[in-house]
Amino acid sequence: MIIILDYGSQYAQLIARRVRECNVYSELVAHDITAARVRELRPEGIILSGGPASVYEQDAPRLDPAILDLGIPILGICYGMQLIMDMLGGKVERRTEKREYGRAALRVDTASALFVGIEDSFTAWMSHGDSCVVLADGFRRIASTDSLEQAAVEQAARKIYGVQFHPEVAHTVKGMDVLKNFIFGICQAQAVWTMANYIETEVKRIRATVGSGRVLLGLSGGVDSTTVAALLHKAVGNQLICMFIDQGFLRQGEARRVADLIAKHMRIRLVQVDAAQRFMERVKGISDPEEKRRRIGNEFVRTFEAEARKIGNFQFLAQGTLYPDVIESAVSGGTQAKTAAKIKTHHNVGGLPADMQFKLLEPLRWLFKDEVRRLGRELGLHEDLVNRHPFPGPGLAIRIIGEITPERVRVLQEADAIVMGEIKAAGWYDKIWQVPVILLPEVRTVGVMGDARTYGMTCAVRCVTSEDAMTARAAHLPWELLEKISARVINEVPEITRVCYDISSKPPATIEWE
Ligand code: XMP
Repeated sequence: MIIILDYGSQYAQLIARRVRECNVYSELVAHDITAARVRELRPEGIILSGGPASVYEQDAPRLDPAILDLGIPILGICYGMQLIMDMLGGKVERRTEKREYGRAALRVDTASALFVGIEDSFTAWMSHGDSCVVLADGFRRIASTDSLEQAAVEQAARKIYGVQFHPEVAHTVKGMDVLKNFIFGICQAQAVWTMANYIETEVKRIRATVGSGRVLLGLSGGVDSTTVAALLHKAVGNQLICMFIDQGFLRQGEARRVADLIAKHMRIRLVQVDAAQRFMERVKGISDPEEKRRRIGNEFVRTFEAEARKIGNFQFLAQGTLYPDVIESAVSGGTQAKTAAKIKTHHNVGGLPADMQFKLLEPLRWLFKDEVRRLGRELGLHEDLVNRHPFPGPGLAIRIIGEITPERVRVLQEADAIVMGEIKAAGWYDKIWQVPVILLPEVRTVGVMGDARTYGMTCAVRCVTSEDAMTARAAHLPWELLEKISARVINEVPEITRVCYDISSKPPATIEWE
């Protein structure tokens, strides 16, 4: 295992993912972890992430100095390198001129174990206003750029390394090679983290935990909960009961599709609840997006609870919690963690009543999204399911701006089905993150069809690319495809007379409109 100390870099999670891509398990931990705790974890290596602070600032995050003496190889990235230099007697200063941001041509010393086997110059990504001007004792320079003398340093005898650039980002051409040199060459880690191993360990763990108990899982049809279902089913078979609640805001035909898939292909016990009418009554007359979410969330918990009671005794409730959610609540360090946590609170359904006695099972809590997809594949889930786009819990309700009515839901379902159909037919589905279609029922505009004047609703199409939904960009869909989508929606959904394409990025916009 490699542990990554989080100093608040936007790339901290990315480092953890990159390590796992090398089939080595990694965990992100708070930067104030003690040396004693690190020793308990017995990692093969330690990476210090970058971060927005400057080492000479008063409240700058530090490192337990005893960690440097554990004899475990250490790689400091950006702020991590500056911190090591500062702690061991080097000097870090703000660069007044020639600040290095973005791409830089790096020249490296391939005699260093960190760069062995790599070309002696490559493009690297930099992003910090500080740099190390005096090396700590016992360190030597192993890379530089035109404007930065100490772009990487080492004290090979103690296996301590530092890089001022970011090997984890794709813009650093040989970044993966540098990380591999550290992970395998310097740390001597073994590449044993595979999804097949994960299944084996988790199945054992789940069996030991659950025993002869019963497990309830709320299933949405998304990749996370479906993968949990497949994993639990493999572990405990019919002791697993899945519950699928149709709140009435799903895509056209979705409830049937999910039920068919689960029942036929996975042979899992499924309780299907049609709660559409109840949810519709709860949101009647409500336009405020937060109030809509609150009501839908509450109703979901209430419905789940009532239906769960009908199922009888169960001792475990399973959830598709992923590693990024765990990090957000566990790692307190970074500013990113805090903002991310805040943005995400709305995704959680909230607690079930205290008098229901059960334990939580979260068998995906160590995985990133791309790993969940690999796990799903390994478990034999259909490719359509594994590659599914994310879909928000409150569904189309947050894609109807203003009041929700049954007619508006139907209109949006029709438009959404056309858009999704065209996106898939054009081969774009697997290239993009998500395609929200939004209905603006109160923005009415004039149109003309045949000889008649029309006056209908507006619909917006938003198609974004993203790695993790934290940031997103509008996809550059071909003009012809957009025109075809627009023409089909307006022709086939008479209530809609205008289609717009949303080109905003996140930030500053969000993916959903609400
Ligand atoms: P925003 O709109 O915040 O969305 O940029 C980020 C991602 O989260 C999804 N999303 C949700 N997912 N329950 C979910 O399971 C929710 O309540 C929810 N709200 C937004 C959104 O679709 C996007 O992928």
